[in-house]
Amino acid sequence: MGRIVLVCGMPGAGKTTLARALVAELDAVHLCPDEWLVPLGIDPHDARRRDRFERLQWRHGLRLAELGLTVVVDFGLWSRVERRRLREQARAIGADVELRVLDVPLAERWRRVAARNAEPGAVVISREQLVDYERWWQPPDAAERAAYDAPVRRSGAGTSGPNAVP
Ligand SMILES: Nc1ncnc2c1ncn2[C@@H]1O[C@H](COP(=O)(O)OP(=O)(O)OP(=O)(O)O)[C@@H](O)[C@H]1O
Ligand SMILES: [Mg+2]
Repeated sequence: MGRIVLVCGMPGAGKTTLARALVAELDAVHLCPDEWLVPLGIDPHDARRRDRFERLQWRHGLRLAELGLTVVVDFGLWSRVERRRLREQARAIGADVELRVLDVPLAERWRRVAARNAEPGAVVISREQLVDYERWWQPPDAAERAAYDAPVRRSGAGTSGPNAVP
């Protein structure tokens, strides 16, 4: 059975950066809505379409996990109820599910987003949007974190795989 890694955090927290590193480390599949919505010409700020797209992508991710793959989910996952829905659906198919939390202060996230906004092809987020989104952020508490499986890493001492220390 596969593994699902939920990456949660507000814009600019570094989710996509972390997800790409995990994908390389774990030979995983990256579910990143922006990477599909933008080439399809769909406004990534269109909440209704984004939500529908994420639900389709999530179903696809569950199927990949059923086939034994590791899937890194880069959806934001700002709310507790959304994280719980994904966790329960992942468990229902027998997948392991882990949570990675990036809780970065607004000032630092705005510094990062402002720099990223200047890059060609960036999904531009204004400071007003970033501030407006704050009210939706529900950082996972200790009880919620305890509901997830511990991370499994291929590299480093004590993990399984070709680099494992016996
Ligand atoms: N730990 C870090 N320290 C400094 N800069 C970082 C760090 N992680 C990511 N960045 C930079 O900050 C910017 C935002 O990171 P990233 O795109 O990964 O965030 P995100 O959480 O995916 O944001 P969004 O929700 O808007 O997609 C990028 O330009 C990235 O290079
Ligand atoms: Mg991102």
